[in-house]
Amino acid sequence: MDSRPIGIFDSGLGGLTAVKEAVRRMPGEHIVFFGDTGRVPYGTRSTPTIIRYAMEDMRFLKRFDIKTAVVACGTVSTTALPELRKNFDLPIYGVTEAAVDAALRESRSGRIGVIGTNASIRSGTYERLLKEQCADAEVVSIPCPLLVPLVENGRFDPADPVVRLILEEYLAPITEFGADTLILGCTHYPLLRTAVAQVCGPDVALIDPGRETAEVLAQELSANGLAADPDRKGSLRCFVSDDAESFSHFGSMFLGRDIEADVSLCDISAEK
Ligand code: DGL
Repeated sequence: MDSRPIGIFDSGLGGLTAVKEAVRRMPGEHIVFFGDTGRVPYGTRSTPTIIRYAMEDMRFLKRFDIKTAVVACGTVSTTALPELRKNFDLPIYGVTEAAVDAALRESRSGRIGVIGTNASIRSGTYERLLKEQCADAEVVSIPCPLLVPLVENGRFDPADPVVRLILEEYLAPITEFGADTLILGCTHYPLLRTAVAQVCGPDVALIDPGRETAEVLAQELSANGLAADPDRKGSLRCFVSDDAESFSHFGSMFLGRDIEADVSLCDISAEK
């Protein structure tokens, strides 16, 4: 058994999609979450900048004596994971591997769509991992840079006409391609899950990377004797680099409970 916390980070609200699943599956774990709300979005940045931000985020989480880290960010997972694993001596989970495994399990036709940030799609990581595991897979990847700002501004109501219009444009190539499975390749996107499902229709399976990763993490912690005492009551502490109020508001909406008292502001520039 290992009572130390799990560290999870993202550029902003999106990481809560992984946190929500981690809390649900591992209620005894203490979780420390960092959302880099002062520097979101990451997905429109260059690779060196994303690596630098990711290194600072990990340094911040390491202060809490974490036993493992989850990079609950598709952009960092596709762009900076090898760098993080080289520099930090603890198990680090990205969100891409578990999402790819789930997509290949789910797809019947082998036609798989991927949506993500500019950086994630530019990296080609999802496509490469899919093809490595299934040479016959046919993949279409679409960058959707407007979705993260929408979510960060709390625009995730499926009835919102702006959300609908933007999704219709981004998802048209996925529908034309005839994908039967779609990887929501940025952890912000599951907040738009209902709206995406409405646009894609009921025949397209949606893969949530944060959910899949939390599942793998729960299994591996338990298999390696690293899970917390299951009778313990876990906790959630959130840190953000700007605008704790907005994060608390939308985060509480998404998690379905008031997290205001659990959210603190931190100075990420101290981790340079
Ligand atoms: N939620 C992140 C991702 O999964 C970050 C998006 C961004 O900051 O642009 O890619």
